[in-house]
Amino acid sequence: MAIFSTLTPVFLAVLCILIAIIFKNFKKSEKKPKTDSKPPVPSRPWVDEDLEDDTEINPGEDDEELAESEGDVSHVPFSLPRYSEAEMLHRSQEFYALMNGRRSVRFISPEPVPRDIIENVIRAAGTAPSGAHTEPWTFVVVADAQTKSEIRRIVEEEEEINYKLRMGEKWVTDLKRLRTNWVKEYLDTAPYLILIFKQTYGMHPSGKKRTHYYNEISVSISCGILLAALQNAGLVTVTTTPLNCGPQLRQLLQRPLNEKLLMLLPVGFPSEDATVPQLSRKPLDDIMVFV
Ligand SMILES: Cc1cc2nc3c(=O)[nH]c(=O)nc-3n(C[C@H](O)[C@H](O)[C@H](O)COP(=O)(O)O)c2cc1C
Repeated sequence: MAIFSTLTPVFLAVLCILIAIIFKNFKKSEKKPKTDSKPPVPSRPWVDEDLEDDTEINPGEDDEELAESEGDVSHVPFSLPRYSEAEMLHRSQEFYALMNGRRSVRFISPEPVPRDIIENVIRAAGTAPSGAHTEPWTFVVVADAQTKSEIRRIVEEEEEINYKLRMGEKWVTDLKRLRTNWVKEYLDTAPYLILIFKQTYGMHPSGKKRTHYYNEISVSISCGILLAALQNAGLVTVTTTPLNCGPQLRQLLQRPLNEKLLMLLPVGFPSEDATVPQLSRKPLDDIMVFV
């Protein structure tokens, strides 16, 4: 008994040291992934941190979603026009020819475009498939001259920093042949700017967050359809992803925090003196693997 009572303080001291070591190691292992997942900015300058998903839905927070999604959806018959083989071949060739004529045009005429056409191309973009049919997109159409100028100011200011400091020599050299720089006249001249936001999460009527599965993939597909619809309507655009402009543009356009700017498309007719880089596209053999 006497031995036991003399040993107790020693035992307690050893126990304290052990707990301290375990706690220290735990803190170290907690910190490690953070340094791994956030490499220094210059090594991946094309990563727009604002675009990183912040769905942040805590366990239990989407219980309501579960209850809602359990509601039954009726299933209805589906049919599609059935074309002859010759007709299918013809249609596929026609569509390819139409899309092969699409080019990124950086010289856009101020000539007005009827609003109905813009509404239809956005309707078409809204037909895209989306993760669990969450439709996580917002298309902001800007026609107001003052707002367009303010967008141009924000984009050019950031783009100048991107070109001079963030992008690095290799990226800037890759862009040289396209003759692009931070001056974006089309942001003023195009009759419309379409800013496409991905909604990283949605909201239930109760105000609770709703998961938007695969929101970036879904919105990117809808952007592809939008590009095709513009081409089909006889309009041009240039796909742009203004690096680090998201928060300022979101604020300017009064969009909520769950909306992240994915793409900015100036839309209109090409200007009369428009030119495009003479690029060729990879042949089928280089892009298709048939198994
Ligand atoms: C995700 C993405 C981002 C792009 N960002 C820009 C951009 O910021 N500025 C620009 O002038 N072009 C941009 N482009 C357009 C490309 O340079 C263009 O698509 C490419 O050179 C091929 O030319 P084409 O579109 O005429 O076929 C982007 C294209 C994509 C798909």
